Amino acid sequence: MPTALHQHHAALRERFLLHQEALIGLDLDLAQQRLRDHASALREHIRCEERLLLPRYATCNGEVPRGGSVTIFFDEHRKIERLLEQLEGLLSSLCQDPSHPQLRRGVLKLLEREILLTHLLEHHEHREESILLPTLQTELGEQGLADLLVTVFTSDGSLEPDSAAT
Ligand SMILES: [Fe+2]
Ligand SMILES: [Fe+2]
Repeated sequence: MPTALHQHHAALRERFLLHQEALIGLDLDLAQQRLRDHASALREHIRCEERLLLPRYATCNGEVPRGGSVTIFFDEHRKIERLLEQLEGLLSSLCQDPSHPQLRRGVLKLLEREILLTHLLEHHEHREESILLPTLQTELGEQGLADLLVTVFTSDGSLEPDSAAT
């Protein structure tokens, strides 16, 4: 059953797609605004996970599942943040000269970098949903996990699950 974490991941993906739609339409101002929205929601999502979710996961009993050490989650967050910064920098240089003859090449280059972020997020979210969530559920029970997720994600005012489409 989808949890609040699944819903937030889906909402983040939708925000990024909205940015990419504007980008391939060469509406750079809109693409930049939507990338900013996505980046700020994603940074807030990471902040909430690191403040409230990962510390609880770190205290779970039992063996750490393969590929599920807390360090991996933190390291991936730093990689995601670095890539976001790169994307914002690349788009900002494109916006400075939207009539540049190489603009379309620049957009292609940006899209190539964005695919890296999409793949990184896919792996990362899969790790959270298939390792972190089941481990927490074993520890806390279904209701305990649901209560924890409500606490984590109601503290994230920047990303309501259904807000991406508005
Ligand atoms: Fe995460
Ligand atoms: Fe996440």
